[in-house]
Amino acid sequence: MKNVILTGFMGSGKSSVGRIVAKRLGYEFRDLDAVIMEEAGLSINDIFSRHGEEHFRAVESRAVERVAGSTALVVATGGGAVISTENRRLFRSSGIVINLMASMESILNRLRNDSSRPLLRGPDREEKISRLLSEREACYADADIRIDTTGKKVEDVAAEILTYLKGKL
Ligand code: S3P
Repeated sequence: MKNVILTGFMGSGKSSVGRIVAKRLGYEFRDLDAVIMEEAGLSINDIFSRHGEEHFRAVESRAVERVAGSTALVVATGGGAVISTENRRLFRSSGIVINLMASMESILNRLRNDSSRPLLRGPDREEKISRLLSEREACYADADIRIDTTGKKVEDVAAEILTYLKGKL
């Protein structure tokens, strides 16, 4: 059984949607950031501030290898997990890759009270998001299907995914 891999920018709804999809499919749900935090015994903010982004990416890639070696998982990946070519190759070979998109306005809105994303700390959040989105566009486009979540309820996005997945797993 193939995995279902959800990619997308921070605030695109990967975890909320992923939990629903997993439940409906009878698959296990894995949140890559949660796996990393559990292993490190540190928050994502603390991993970045104590060890740096490079270290975080190395830990993230190890977590990607592990999920790619399992089956019947719905995986919510971290927004930057797609940057690595090798991670993307593992995602594609282990299952169906679904990219969740969202408008700038909805990303800003969904993350407005959030302080758990180290890459968005400080001023000029919109500028940071816009730069990361354009740097990563080709990596997010490397997917079987892209779904725009702007203005949609998580249940509706999950239903769209389940319809797409029919007969593919
Ligand atoms: C990151 C996204 C975060 C987390 C880390 C880095 C990114 O995951 O992995 O803060 O580079 O976009 P979410 O997309 O789950 O917020």
